[in-house]
Amino acid sequence: MIFTAYFFSATSVFITTFFSFSFYFTPHSYAVPFESQKIMITGPSQLAVESGVQTFKNGGNIVDAAVSTALVLAVTSPYFAALGGGGFALVHIDSQSEVLDFREHAPAKTHPQYYIQAASPKASRLGGKAIGVPGIPYGLWELHRKYGKLKWHKLFNSALKYSKKGFRVSGEWYKHTSKNIEKMSPASKKHLLISQAALPKPGQIQTQKALFKALKLFRKKGPKAFYEGRVAEDLVSSISAAGGEMSLEDLKNYRPKWRKPLYENFAGYKLMLMPPPSSGGLVIGAALNLTQRLQLKKTEARSLNEYHLLAEIMKQSFSKRHLLGDPAFHINPISEFTSDDSRKKFLKKISSTKAFIVPSSMPIPQESPETTHFSVMDSKGNALAMTLTLNGNYGSKVISKKYGIALNNQMDDFTTRPGQPNMFGLIQGKGNEVQAGKRPLSSMSPTLVLKNNKAVMSLGAPGGPRIINGVFQVLYRTLVQDLNMDEAIQQPRIHHQYLPNVLFYEKNKFTPETLNSLMKKGHKLKEIHGVAIVNGIRLNKKEFLEGAFDHRGEGYVSGY
Ligand code: DON
Repeated sequence: MIFTAYFFSATSVFITTFFSFSFYFTPHSYAVPFESQKIMITGPSQLAVESGVQTFKNGGNIVDAAVSTALVLAVTSPYFAALGGGGFALVHIDSQSEVLDFREHAPAKTHPQYYIQAASPKASRLGGKAIGVPGIPYGLWELHRKYGKLKWHKLFNSALKYSKKGFRVSGEWYKHTSKNIEKMSPASKKHLLISQAALPKPGQIQTQKALFKALKLFRKKGPKAFYEGRVAEDLVSSISAAGGEMSLEDLKNYRPKWRKPLYENFAGYKLMLMPPPSSGGLVIGAALNLTQRLQLKKTEARSLNEYHLLAEIMKQSFSKRHLLGDPAFHINPISEFTSDDSRKKFLKKISSTKAFIVPSSMPIPQESPETTHFSVMDSKGNALAMTLTLNGNYGSKVISKKYGIALNNQMDDFTTRPGQPNMFGLIQGKGNEVQAGKRPLSSMSPTLVLKNNKAVMSLGAPGGPRIINGVFQVLYRTLVQDLNMDEAIQQPRIHHQYLPNVLFYEKNKFTPETLNSLMKKGHKLKEIHGVAIVNGIRLNKKEFLEGAFDHRGEGYVSGY
Protein backbone atom coordinates (compact mmCIF):
# COMPACT_ATOMS: atom_id res chain seq x y z
CA MET A 1 0.00 0.00 0.00
CA ILE A 2 1.26 3.47 -0.83
CA PHE A 3 0.42 6.49 1.24
CA THR A 4 1.28 9.89 -0.20
CA ALA A 5 0.56 13.31 1.13
CA TYR A 6 0.72 16.61 -0.74
CA PHE A 7 0.61 20.17 0.34
CA PHE A 8 -0.68 22.47 -2.38
CA SER A 9 1.14 25.75 -2.01
CA ALA A 10 -1.49 28.31 -2.98
CA THR A 11 -4.65 26.72 -1.76
CA SER A 12 -3.28 24.80 1.18
CA VAL A 13 -5.29 21.76 0.27
CA PHE A 14 -4.13 18.71 2.12
CA ILE A 15 -4.71 15.55 0.16
CA THR A 16 -4.19 11.95 1.01
CA THR A 17 -4.14 9.16 -1.44
CA PHE A 18 -4.44 5.46 -0.66
CA PHE A 19 -3.99 2.35 -2.77
CA SER A 20 -2.62 4.14 -5.80
CA PHE A 21 -0.60 0.99 -6.64
CA SER A 22 -3.69 -0.80 -7.92
CA PHE A 23 -4.31 1.64 -10.78
CA TYR A 24 -1.40 1.08 -13.10
CA PHE A 25 -1.82 1.31 -16.83
CA THR A 26 -1.53 -1.78 -19.00
CA PRO A 27 2.19 -2.62 -19.27
CA HIS A 28 3.92 -2.41 -22.63
CA SER A 29 7.48 -2.34 -23.86
CA TYR A 30 9.89 0.26 -25.17
CA ALA A 31 12.77 0.14 -27.61
CA VAL A 32 16.30 1.14 -26.68
CA PRO A 33 16.57 4.74 -27.88
CA PHE A 34 18.90 5.44 -30.78
CA GLU A 35 22.17 7.16 -29.80
CA SER A 36 24.74 9.10 -31.80
CA GLN A 37 27.31 11.83 -31.33
CA LYS A 38 27.58 14.36 -34.15
CA ILE A 39 24.09 14.71 -35.57
CA MET A 40 20.68 13.18 -35.11
CA ILE A 41 17.39 13.59 -36.93
CA THR A 42 14.07 12.03 -36.00
CA GLY A 43 11.06 12.41 -38.25
CA PRO A 44 8.36 10.58 -40.13
CA SER A 45 10.16 9.30 -43.25
CA GLN A 46 13.34 7.25 -43.64
CA LEU A 47 14.26 8.85 -46.96
CA ALA A 48 13.79 12.38 -45.59
CA VAL A 49 15.73 11.74 -42.38
CA GLU A 50 18.60 10.06 -44.26
CA SER A 51 18.74 12.94 -46.71
CA GLY A 52 19.13 15.37 -43.81
CA VAL A 53 21.89 13.29 -42.23
CA GLN A 54 23.70 13.04 -45.58
CA THR A 55 23.47 16.82 -46.03
CA PHE A 56 25.17 17.27 -42.65
CA LYS A 57 27.85 14.75 -43.66
CA ASN A 58 28.43 16.80 -46.80
CA GLY A 59 29.43 19.77 -44.66
CA GLY A 60 26.02 21.28 -43.94
CA ASN A 61 24.79 22.53 -40.57
CA ILE A 62 21.51 21.67 -38.81
CA VAL A 63 19.58 24.17 -40.92
CA ASP A 64 20.85 22.70 -44.19
CA ALA A 65 19.98 19.25 -42.86
CA ALA A 66 16.47 20.42 -41.92
CA VAL A 67 15.79 22.06 -45.28
CA SER A 68 16.85 18.97 -47.20
CA THR A 69 14.72 16.79 -44.88
CA ALA A 70 11.69 19.03 -45.49
CA LEU A 71 12.20 19.01 -49.27
CA VAL A 72 12.19 15.20 -49.33
CA LEU A 73 9.10 15.15 -47.11
CA ALA A 74 7.33 17.30 -49.71
CA VAL A 75 7.92 14.42 -52.16
CA THR A 76 7.47 11.31 -49.99
CA SER A 77 4.78 12.58 -47.63
CA PRO A 78 2.66 15.14 -49.51
CA TYR A 79 -0.39 14.37 -47.36
CA PHE A 80 1.12 16.37 -44.49
CA ALA A 81 4.25 18.10 -45.82
CA ALA A 82 3.61 19.21 -49.43
CA LEU A 83 4.93 22.61 -50.50
CA GLY A 84 1.34 23.91 -50.36
CA GLY A 85 1.31 23.91 -46.54
CA GLY A 86 2.81 25.94 -43.73
CA GLY A 87 4.70 25.47 -40.51
CA PHE A 88 6.87 26.72 -37.69
CA ALA A 89 10.54 26.20 -36.91
CA LEU A 90 12.42 26.88 -33.70
CA VAL A 91 16.16 27.26 -34.15
CA HIS A 92 18.97 27.51 -31.65
CA ILE A 93 22.21 27.94 -33.55
CA ASP A 94 25.55 29.43 -32.44
CA SER A 95 23.88 30.41 -29.14
CA GLN A 96 21.18 32.43 -30.94
CA SER A 97 17.50 31.50 -30.59
CA GLU A 98 14.77 32.37 -33.07
CA VAL A 99 11.40 31.26 -34.31
CA LEU A 100 10.43 31.24 -37.97
CA ASP A 101 6.69 31.48 -38.60
CA PHE A 102 5.90 30.35 -42.13
CA ARG A 103 2.24 29.68 -41.47
CA GLU A 104 -0.30 30.31 -44.21
CA HIS A 105 -2.19 33.58 -44.22
CA ALA A 106 -5.71 34.44 -45.35
CA PRO A 107 -6.13 35.58 -49.00
CA ALA A 108 -7.12 39.25 -49.54
CA LYS A 109 -10.68 38.36 -50.58
CA THR A 110 -11.52 36.76 -47.22
CA HIS A 111 -13.21 38.50 -44.25
CA PRO A 112 -14.94 37.60 -40.95
CA GLN A 113 -18.22 36.58 -42.66
CA TYR A 114 -16.55 34.69 -45.52
CA TYR A 115 -17.46 31.17 -44.34
CA ILE A 116 -20.78 32.18 -42.79
CA GLN A 117 -21.81 33.43 -46.24
CA ALA A 118 -20.30 30.49 -48.15
CA ALA A 119 -22.77 28.18 -49.89
CA SER A 120 -21.19 25.04 -48.43
CA PRO A 121 -20.79 24.50 -44.67
CA LYS A 122 -17.58 22.65 -45.57
CA ALA A 123 -16.05 25.61 -47.43
CA SER A 124 -13.27 26.09 -44.85
CA ARG A 125 -12.26 22.42 -45.11
CA LEU A 126 -12.70 21.24 -48.67
CA GLY A 127 -11.95 22.91 -52.00
CA GLY A 128 -10.45 26.21 -53.08
CA LYS A 129 -11.93 28.46 -50.38
CA ALA A 130 -10.24 26.41 -47.65
CA ILE A 131 -6.75 27.27 -48.86
CA GLY A 132 -4.50 29.76 -47.09
CA VAL A 133 -1.50 31.29 -48.89
CA PRO A 134 1.21 28.58 -48.53
CA GLY A 135 4.31 29.28 -46.45
CA ILE A 136 6.60 26.25 -46.69
CA PRO A 137 8.68 27.26 -49.75
CA TYR A 138 9.38 30.77 -48.44
CA GLY A 139 9.97 29.39 -44.96
CA LEU A 140 12.63 26.94 -46.12
CA TRP A 141 14.30 29.63 -48.22
CA GLU A 142 14.32 32.15 -45.36
CA LEU A 143 15.65 29.65 -42.84
CA HIS A 144 18.49 28.82 -45.20
CA ARG A 145 19.13 32.45 -46.18
CA LYS A 146 19.69 33.41 -42.57
CA TYR A 147 21.37 30.35 -41.11
CA GLY A 148 22.30 27.88 -43.87
CA LYS A 149 25.91 27.02 -44.71
CA LEU A 150 25.82 24.95 -47.90
CA LYS A 151 24.74 26.43 -51.21
CA TRP A 152 20.94 26.39 -51.68
CA HIS A 153 21.03 24.14 -54.76
CA LYS A 154 22.94 21.45 -52.84
CA LEU A 155 19.94 20.82 -50.62
CA PHE A 156 17.79 19.51 -53.46
CA ASN A 157 19.67 16.37 -54.55
CA SER A 158 17.50 13.79 -52.80
CA ALA A 159 14.17 15.58 -53.36
CA LEU A 160 14.89 15.84 -57.08
CA LYS A 161 16.04 12.22 -57.27
CA TYR A 162 12.95 10.82 -55.50
CA SER A 163 10.50 12.96 -57.42
CA LYS A 164 12.04 12.06 -60.79
CA LYS A 165 13.08 8.44 -60.35
CA GLY A 166 10.54 7.57 -57.72
CA PHE A 167 10.42 6.22 -54.17
CA ARG A 168 8.73 3.22 -52.63
CA VAL A 169 5.49 4.33 -51.04
CA SER A 170 4.96 3.48 -47.38
CA GLY A 171 1.93 1.87 -45.79
CA GLU A 172 1.01 5.27 -44.35
CA TRP A 173 1.28 6.89 -47.80
CA TYR A 174 -1.14 4.29 -49.12
CA LYS A 175 -3.52 4.62 -46.17
CA HIS A 176 -3.71 8.43 -46.25
CA THR A 177 -3.89 8.59 -50.04
CA SER A 178 -6.52 5.90 -50.52
CA LYS A 179 -8.66 7.55 -47.82
CA ASN A 180 -8.61 10.95 -49.51
CA ILE A 181 -8.39 10.35 -53.24
CA GLU A 182 -12.14 10.00 -53.73
CA LYS A 183 -12.61 13.59 -52.56
CA MET A 184 -10.27 14.88 -55.29
CA SER A 185 -10.97 16.13 -58.79
CA PRO A 186 -9.62 14.07 -61.72
CA ALA A 187 -6.88 16.72 -62.25
CA SER A 188 -5.70 16.34 -58.65
CA LYS A 189 -6.00 12.55 -58.65
CA LYS A 190 -3.78 12.07 -61.65
CA HIS A 191 -0.68 13.11 -59.67
CA LEU A 192 -1.16 10.18 -57.31
CA LEU A 193 -2.03 7.33 -59.68
CA ILE A 194 0.64 5.18 -61.30
CA SER A 195 -1.44 3.86 -64.12
CA GLN A 196 -4.85 4.89 -65.45
CA ALA A 197 -6.71 4.25 -62.24
CA ALA A 198 -4.43 2.56 -59.75
CA LEU A 199 -2.75 3.89 -56.65
CA PRO A 200 0.65 2.43 -55.89
CA LYS A 201 0.46 -0.01 -52.98
CA PRO A 202 3.05 -0.13 -50.18
CA GLY A 203 6.47 -0.98 -51.61
CA GLN A 204 5.58 0.09 -55.17
CA ILE A 205 7.40 2.95 -56.83
CA GLN A 206 5.80 6.35 -57.24
CA THR A 207 7.26 9.30 -59.13
CA GLN A 208 6.18 12.94 -58.85
CA LYS A 209 7.09 14.23 -62.31
CA ALA A 210 5.07 17.46 -62.08
CA LEU A 211 6.46 18.28 -58.65
CA PHE A 212 9.97 17.53 -59.96
CA LYS A 213 9.55 20.45 -62.38
CA ALA A 214 8.45 22.77 -59.57
CA LEU A 215 11.38 21.68 -57.38
CA LYS A 216 13.84 22.32 -60.21
CA LEU A 217 12.50 25.85 -60.62
CA PHE A 218 12.59 26.39 -56.86
CA ARG A 219 16.21 25.21 -56.74
CA LYS A 220 17.19 27.60 -59.50
CA LYS A 221 15.26 30.74 -58.58
CA GLY A 222 14.31 30.42 -54.93
CA PRO A 223 10.86 31.55 -53.71
CA LYS A 224 10.19 33.71 -56.79
CA ALA A 225 9.79 30.44 -58.67
CA PHE A 226 6.90 29.47 -56.43
CA TYR A 227 5.27 32.79 -55.50
CA GLU A 228 5.50 34.34 -58.98
CA GLY A 229 5.51 33.12 -62.55
CA ARG A 230 4.39 29.75 -63.89
CA VAL A 231 3.99 27.90 -60.59
CA ALA A 232 2.03 30.77 -59.02
CA GLU A 233 -0.22 30.88 -62.11
CA ASP A 234 -0.83 27.15 -61.82
CA LEU A 235 -1.71 27.51 -58.13
CA VAL A 236 -4.12 30.39 -58.75
CA SER A 237 -5.91 28.68 -61.63
CA SER A 238 -6.17 25.32 -59.79
CA ILE A 239 -7.52 27.07 -56.69
CA SER A 240 -9.99 29.04 -58.79
CA ALA A 241 -11.18 25.86 -60.56
CA ALA A 242 -11.89 24.47 -57.07
CA GLY A 243 -13.97 27.54 -56.09
CA GLY A 244 -11.27 29.56 -54.29
CA GLU A 245 -10.28 33.21 -54.73
CA MET A 246 -6.53 33.36 -54.10
CA SER A 247 -4.80 35.84 -56.40
CA LEU A 248 -1.31 36.22 -57.85
CA GLU A 249 -0.96 39.24 -55.55
CA ASP A 250 -1.74 37.07 -52.51
CA LEU A 251 1.12 34.78 -53.42
CA LYS A 252 3.51 37.58 -54.32
CA ASN A 253 2.89 39.32 -50.98
CA TYR A 254 3.56 36.29 -48.79
CA ARG A 255 6.52 36.52 -46.38
CA PRO A 256 7.51 34.34 -43.43
CA LYS A 257 8.09 36.15 -40.09
CA TRP A 258 10.94 35.86 -37.62
CA ARG A 259 9.67 35.93 -34.05
CA LYS A 260 11.06 35.87 -30.56
CA PRO A 261 10.46 32.59 -28.78
CA LEU A 262 8.56 32.37 -25.52
CA TYR A 263 10.72 31.26 -22.62
CA GLU A 264 9.69 29.38 -19.51
CA ASN A 265 12.05 28.32 -16.73
CA PHE A 266 11.22 24.82 -15.65
CA ALA A 267 13.01 22.18 -13.55
CA GLY A 268 16.38 23.87 -14.01
CA TYR A 269 15.99 24.26 -17.77
CA LYS A 270 15.08 27.13 -20.06
CA LEU A 271 12.30 26.08 -22.38
CA MET A 272 12.04 27.71 -25.77
CA LEU A 273 8.39 27.62 -26.77
CA MET A 274 6.31 28.56 -29.80
CA PRO A 275 4.64 32.01 -29.41
CA PRO A 276 1.38 33.20 -31.08
CA PRO A 277 0.04 32.65 -33.68
CA SER A 278 0.48 29.31 -31.96
CA SER A 279 -1.33 28.70 -28.71
CA GLY A 280 1.09 25.85 -27.97
CA GLY A 281 3.86 27.62 -26.07
CA LEU A 282 1.54 29.53 -23.74
CA VAL A 283 -0.54 26.47 -22.85
CA ILE A 284 2.53 24.22 -22.37
CA GLY A 285 4.29 26.85 -20.23
CA ALA A 286 1.25 27.19 -17.94
CA ALA A 287 0.77 23.41 -17.73
CA LEU A 288 4.39 22.71 -16.76
CA ASN A 289 4.31 25.47 -14.17
CA LEU A 290 1.16 23.93 -12.65
CA THR A 291 2.96 20.58 -12.28
CA GLN A 292 5.46 22.41 -10.06
CA ARG A 293 2.84 24.26 -8.04
CA LEU A 294 1.03 20.95 -7.45
CA GLN A 295 4.31 19.18 -6.67
CA LEU A 296 3.20 16.55 -9.16
CA LYS A 297 6.58 14.85 -9.10
CA LYS A 298 5.71 13.50 -5.64
CA THR A 299 2.73 11.70 -7.18
CA GLU A 300 3.55 8.23 -8.37
CA ALA A 301 4.32 8.14 -12.08
CA ARG A 302 1.44 6.84 -14.20
CA SER A 303 -0.82 6.31 -11.19
CA LEU A 304 -4.50 7.13 -11.25
CA ASN A 305 -3.79 10.28 -9.26
CA GLU A 306 -1.13 11.43 -11.67
CA TYR A 307 -3.40 11.03 -14.68
CA HIS A 308 -6.26 12.76 -12.86
CA LEU A 309 -4.06 15.76 -12.00
CA LEU A 310 -2.55 15.87 -15.49
CA ALA A 311 -6.09 16.02 -16.90
CA GLU A 312 -7.00 18.87 -14.53
CA ILE A 313 -3.83 20.75 -15.45
CA MET A 314 -4.60 20.37 -19.17
CA LYS A 315 -8.15 21.57 -18.68
CA GLN A 316 -7.11 24.76 -16.88
CA SER A 317 -4.18 25.51 -19.18
CA PHE A 318 -6.45 25.18 -22.24
CA SER A 319 -9.29 27.24 -20.72
CA LYS A 320 -8.02 30.57 -22.09
CA ARG A 321 -6.83 29.36 -25.49
CA HIS A 322 -9.85 30.94 -27.21
CA LEU A 323 -8.53 34.42 -26.26
CA LEU A 324 -5.59 34.12 -28.67
CA GLY A 325 -4.99 35.08 -32.28
CA ASP A 326 -2.40 36.39 -34.75
CA PRO A 327 -0.39 39.11 -32.91
CA ALA A 328 -0.35 41.30 -36.04
CA PHE A 329 -4.14 41.69 -35.73
CA HIS A 330 -4.97 41.05 -32.11
CA ILE A 331 -3.58 41.97 -28.69
CA ASN A 332 -2.99 38.62 -27.00
CA PRO A 333 -3.65 38.54 -23.24
CA ILE A 334 -0.37 36.74 -22.59
CA SER A 335 -0.56 37.29 -18.83
CA GLU A 336 -3.70 35.10 -18.67
CA PHE A 337 -1.25 32.23 -19.15
CA THR A 338 1.98 33.52 -17.67
CA SER A 339 1.25 35.68 -14.60
CA ASP A 340 1.50 34.36 -11.08
CA ASP A 341 -2.07 35.51 -10.47
CA SER A 342 -3.53 33.64 -13.43
CA ARG A 343 -1.65 30.49 -12.55
CA LYS A 344 -2.87 30.72 -8.95
CA LYS A 345 -6.44 31.00 -10.29
CA PHE A 346 -5.93 27.84 -12.37
CA LEU A 347 -4.55 26.08 -9.32
CA LYS A 348 -7.59 26.97 -7.22
CA LYS A 349 -9.80 25.09 -9.68
CA ILE A 350 -7.80 21.88 -9.35
CA SER A 351 -8.83 19.33 -6.77
CA SER A 352 -7.17 15.97 -6.26
CA THR A 353 -10.47 14.27 -5.56
CA LYS A 354 -12.86 15.43 -8.27
CA ALA A 355 -12.82 16.61 -11.85
CA PHE A 356 -13.58 20.28 -12.55
CA ILE A 357 -16.79 20.32 -14.59
CA VAL A 358 -16.59 22.49 -17.69
CA PRO A 359 -19.99 24.18 -18.00
CA SER A 360 -20.88 23.35 -21.60
CA SER A 361 -21.38 20.38 -23.87
CA MET A 362 -20.27 20.02 -27.46
CA PRO A 363 -19.81 17.41 -30.16
CA ILE A 364 -16.74 15.21 -29.82
CA PRO A 365 -14.10 15.84 -32.52
CA GLN A 366 -12.71 13.18 -34.84
CA GLU A 367 -9.12 11.95 -34.61
CA SER A 368 -6.76 12.84 -37.40
CA PRO A 369 -2.99 12.36 -37.75
CA GLU A 370 -2.35 14.94 -40.43
CA THR A 371 0.65 17.07 -39.68
CA THR A 372 4.24 16.10 -39.12
CA HIS A 373 7.22 17.00 -37.03
CA PHE A 374 10.96 16.42 -37.22
CA SER A 375 13.80 17.38 -34.91
CA VAL A 376 17.51 17.92 -35.60
CA MET A 377 20.32 18.23 -33.04
CA ASP A 378 24.09 18.30 -33.30
CA SER A 379 26.88 17.79 -30.77
CA LYS A 380 27.56 21.52 -30.39
CA GLY A 381 24.29 22.39 -28.69
CA ASN A 382 22.57 23.50 -31.91
CA ALA A 383 19.05 22.28 -32.51
CA LEU A 384 16.00 22.79 -34.67
CA ALA A 385 12.39 21.69 -34.28
CA MET A 386 10.12 21.95 -37.31
CA THR A 387 6.40 21.16 -37.55
CA LEU A 388 4.82 21.14 -41.02
CA THR A 389 1.16 20.87 -41.90
CA LEU A 390 -1.52 21.00 -44.58
CA ASN A 391 -4.03 20.86 -41.66
CA GLY A 392 -6.13 17.91 -42.89
CA ASN A 393 -4.50 15.09 -44.85
CA TYR A 394 -3.98 16.45 -48.35
CA GLY A 395 -5.47 19.67 -46.90
CA SER A 396 -8.17 21.03 -49.20
CA LYS A 397 -7.78 17.91 -51.45
CA VAL A 398 -6.73 20.26 -54.26
CA ILE A 399 -3.47 19.37 -56.00
CA SER A 400 -2.31 21.95 -58.52
CA LYS A 401 -2.80 20.87 -62.09
CA LYS A 402 0.59 21.48 -63.74
CA TYR A 403 3.06 21.26 -60.85
CA GLY A 404 1.41 18.67 -58.59
CA ILE A 405 1.47 20.77 -55.40
CA ALA A 406 -0.99 19.61 -52.73
CA LEU A 407 -2.68 22.57 -51.03
CA ASN A 408 -3.67 23.10 -47.39
CA ASN A 409 -7.03 23.71 -45.74
CA GLN A 410 -5.57 25.83 -42.96
CA MET A 411 -8.44 28.36 -43.18
CA ASP A 412 -10.43 25.98 -40.96
CA ASP A 413 -8.12 26.91 -38.06
CA PHE A 414 -9.76 30.37 -37.99
CA THR A 415 -13.01 31.18 -36.17
CA THR A 416 -14.97 30.47 -39.33
CA ARG A 417 -18.39 30.32 -37.64
CA PRO A 418 -18.40 31.88 -34.16
CA GLY A 419 -19.58 29.50 -31.45
CA GLN A 420 -19.20 26.41 -33.61
CA PRO A 421 -16.33 23.94 -33.18
CA ASN A 422 -13.73 23.53 -35.93
CA MET A 423 -12.58 20.12 -37.16
CA PHE A 424 -10.60 19.59 -33.95
CA GLY A 425 -13.59 20.48 -31.76
CA LEU A 426 -12.04 23.82 -30.84
CA ILE A 427 -14.33 26.76 -30.13
CA GLN A 428 -12.39 29.76 -31.32
CA GLY A 429 -12.65 33.40 -30.29
CA LYS A 430 -12.95 36.87 -31.80
CA GLY A 431 -9.17 37.34 -31.86
CA ASN A 432 -8.99 34.51 -34.38
CA GLU A 433 -11.71 35.71 -36.79
CA VAL A 434 -10.90 35.57 -40.51
CA GLN A 435 -9.15 38.70 -41.81
CA ALA A 436 -7.19 39.23 -45.02
CA GLY A 437 -3.46 38.66 -44.47
CA LYS A 438 -3.98 37.13 -41.01
CA ARG A 439 -2.57 33.80 -39.81
CA PRO A 440 -4.95 31.34 -38.13
CA LEU A 441 -4.35 30.35 -34.53
CA SER A 442 -2.41 27.10 -34.32
CA SER A 443 -1.66 24.41 -31.76
CA MET A 444 1.65 23.39 -33.32
CA SER A 445 4.32 23.30 -30.65
CA PRO A 446 7.86 22.71 -31.86
CA THR A 447 9.89 23.03 -28.65
CA LEU A 448 13.54 23.26 -27.64
CA VAL A 449 15.02 22.89 -24.17
CA LEU A 450 18.16 24.83 -23.30
CA LYS A 451 20.70 24.50 -20.52
CA ASN A 452 23.64 26.94 -20.24
CA ASN A 453 22.53 28.35 -23.57
CA LYS A 454 23.00 25.00 -25.34
CA ALA A 455 20.12 22.97 -26.71
CA VAL A 456 19.63 19.74 -24.78
CA MET A 457 16.31 18.68 -26.28
CA SER A 458 14.21 19.14 -29.41
CA LEU A 459 10.71 17.80 -29.86
CA GLY A 460 7.27 18.36 -31.36
CA ALA A 461 4.29 16.54 -32.86
CA PRO A 462 1.26 16.48 -35.15
CA GLY A 463 -2.23 16.04 -33.69
CA GLY A 464 -4.15 19.35 -33.75
CA PRO A 465 -4.77 20.49 -30.15
CA ARG A 466 -3.47 17.11 -28.94
CA ILE A 467 -0.02 18.30 -30.01
CA ILE A 468 0.03 20.56 -26.97
CA ASN A 469 -0.72 17.81 -24.50
CA GLY A 470 1.51 15.29 -26.26
CA VAL A 471 4.50 17.63 -26.04
CA PHE A 472 3.59 18.63 -22.46
CA GLN A 473 3.51 15.01 -21.29
CA VAL A 474 6.81 14.09 -22.97
CA LEU A 475 8.50 17.18 -21.50
CA TYR A 476 7.24 16.22 -18.06
CA ARG A 477 8.33 12.57 -18.42
CA THR A 478 11.85 13.49 -19.55
CA LEU A 479 12.63 16.64 -17.55
CA VAL A 480 10.98 15.66 -14.28
CA GLN A 481 10.88 11.87 -14.30
CA ASP A 482 14.12 11.48 -16.25
CA LEU A 483 12.78 8.81 -18.59
CA ASN A 484 14.84 8.31 -21.71
CA MET A 485 13.46 9.77 -24.95
CA ASP A 486 11.94 6.51 -26.11
CA GLU A 487 10.32 5.60 -22.78
CA ALA A 488 8.97 9.12 -22.42
CA ILE A 489 7.44 9.15 -25.90
CA GLN A 490 5.85 5.70 -25.66
CA GLN A 491 4.08 6.28 -22.30
CA PRO A 492 0.28 6.15 -22.39
CA ARG A 493 -1.15 9.63 -22.84
CA ILE A 494 -4.35 11.49 -22.15
CA HIS A 495 -5.83 14.67 -23.59
CA HIS A 496 -8.26 17.31 -22.35
CA GLN A 497 -8.79 20.60 -24.20
CA TYR A 498 -11.34 22.17 -21.81
CA LEU A 499 -14.10 22.06 -24.42
CA PRO A 500 -15.63 19.57 -25.01
CA ASN A 501 -15.57 18.40 -21.40
CA VAL A 502 -14.14 15.02 -22.34
CA LEU A 503 -11.04 13.24 -21.13
CA PHE A 504 -9.57 11.37 -24.09
CA TYR A 505 -7.49 8.29 -23.24
CA GLU A 506 -5.48 6.02 -25.48
CA LYS A 507 -6.87 2.65 -26.47
CA ASN A 508 -5.41 -0.51 -24.88
CA LYS A 509 -3.21 1.43 -22.50
CA PHE A 510 -5.27 1.88 -19.35
CA THR A 511 -6.79 -0.81 -17.15
CA PRO A 512 -10.56 -0.91 -16.62
CA GLU A 513 -9.84 -0.12 -12.92
CA THR A 514 -8.04 3.11 -13.85
CA LEU A 515 -10.81 4.14 -16.19
CA ASN A 516 -13.50 3.35 -13.61
CA SER A 517 -11.70 5.34 -10.97
CA LEU A 518 -11.30 8.29 -13.33
CA MET A 519 -15.03 8.16 -14.04
CA LYS A 520 -15.74 8.10 -10.30
CA LYS A 521 -13.75 11.32 -9.98
CA GLY A 522 -16.17 12.86 -12.47
CA HIS A 523 -14.29 12.56 -15.79
CA LYS A 524 -16.27 11.93 -18.96
CA LEU A 525 -14.13 9.47 -20.88
CA LYS A 526 -13.63 8.79 -24.56
CA GLU A 527 -11.25 6.26 -26.08
CA ILE A 528 -8.99 7.34 -28.95
CA HIS A 529 -6.09 5.75 -30.81
CA GLY A 530 -3.39 8.24 -29.98
CA VAL A 531 -2.67 11.60 -28.37
CA ALA A 532 -0.29 13.21 -30.89
CA ILE A 533 2.77 11.61 -32.51
CA VAL A 534 5.83 12.96 -30.75
CA ASN A 535 9.33 12.78 -32.24
CA GLY A 536 12.20 13.96 -30.08
CA ILE A 537 15.91 14.06 -29.32
CA ARG A 538 17.75 14.88 -26.12
CA LEU A 539 21.33 15.05 -24.93
CA ASN A 540 21.53 12.29 -22.33
CA LYS A 541 23.73 11.95 -19.26
CA LYS A 542 26.37 10.13 -21.32
CA GLU A 543 26.48 13.29 -23.47
CA PHE A 544 25.17 11.29 -26.44
CA LEU A 545 22.35 12.43 -28.65
CA GLU A 546 19.42 10.15 -27.83
CA GLY A 547 16.40 10.09 -30.10
CA ALA A 548 13.18 8.27 -30.73
CA PHE A 549 10.06 8.40 -32.82
CA ASP A 550 6.56 7.62 -31.69
CA HIS A 551 5.01 4.17 -32.14
CA ARG A 552 1.74 5.99 -32.84
CA GLY A 553 2.88 7.01 -36.35
CA GLU A 554 5.41 6.33 -39.08
CA GLY A 555 8.91 7.32 -38.05
CA TYR A 556 12.63 6.96 -38.39
CA VAL A 557 15.67 8.16 -36.51
CA SER A 558 19.23 8.35 -37.79
CA GLY A 559 22.57 10.04 -37.21
CA TYR A 560 26.22 9.27 -36.59
O1 DON B 1 -2.04 24.43 -36.74
C1 DON B 1 -2.74 23.61 -36.18
O2 DON B 1 -2.92 23.58 -34.98
C2 DON B 1 -3.40 22.53 -37.01
N1 DON B 1 -3.63 23.01 -38.33
C3 DON B 1 -2.54 21.32 -36.98
C4 DON B 1 -3.22 20.16 -37.63
C5 DON B 1 -2.76 18.87 -37.16
O3 DON B 1 -1.87 18.75 -36.37
C6 DON B 1 -3.50 17.73 -37.71
N2 DON B 1 -3.02 16.53 -37.16
N3 DON B 1 -3.67 15.76 -36.58
